[in-house]
Amino acid sequence: MKIAPSILSADFGNLNSEIEMLNRSEADFIHIDVMDGVFVPNISFGFPVINAVSKVAAKPLDVHLMIVNPDNYIGRVRDCGAEIMNVHQEACTHLHRTVQAIRTAGMRPAVTLNPSTPIVLLEDIIEEVDMILLMSVNPGFGGQSFIGHTVDKLRRLRQMVDKTSNRPMIEIDGGVNEQTAPLLSEAGADILVAGNYIFKSKDKLEAIKKLKEL
Ligand code: DX5
Ligand code: ZN
Repeated sequence: MKIAPSILSADFGNLNSEIEMLNRSEADFIHIDVMDGVFVPNISFGFPVINAVSKVAAKPLDVHLMIVNPDNYIGRVRDCGAEIMNVHQEACTHLHRTVQAIRTAGMRPAVTLNPSTPIVLLEDIIEEVDMILLMSVNPGFGGQSFIGHTVDKLRRLRQMVDKTSNRPMIEIDGGVNEQTAPLLSEAGADILVAGNYIFKSKDKLEAIKKLKEL
């Protein structure tokens, strides 16, 4: 299992040491949640913070944009050193164009679905992306409870992905912890995002290791 700790739950007063801890950990990516207060009912942080993280991070950045018009920021996300640029299907009218532009900019495109968005909407874009992210909470906040229906949705997505030629990775985001992670592993997830579970643990390195060993 690959693990992507979400820094949304990190201590922002000690961001450098939190990132250094992730560098020493078994995490595979650093997940960065950008919220604009329009697409989701919360505002997180923007480019100055992503740049600060990027300077210290020794793991690839997985940037999850919960914003309207993500197309307007492709160049700036790339300039921050992102490896994966994750856009919401619900935020992109011309998703195919957006995905192509992300790849042309030199990043790996990923598409995210909200809990109520059916996976059938991926049918005509799945061959173009490197990752699909299923939200297992309604986006906007860390520390919410896992939506159980995600496990069935993930099983169906796993079947869909296994029929493709490019086999994009499947990432799950929201409410991941010791109880939900085994269900997601069994249903076919490749990457788990975890915020609260990791950053509120007494031993963060151990929490990452636990999820990783599933
Ligand atoms: C939610 C964000 C998540 C969030 C996950 O809108 O996209 O990445 O940080 O947090 P936890 O793991 O606490 O549910
Ligand atoms: Zn996220």
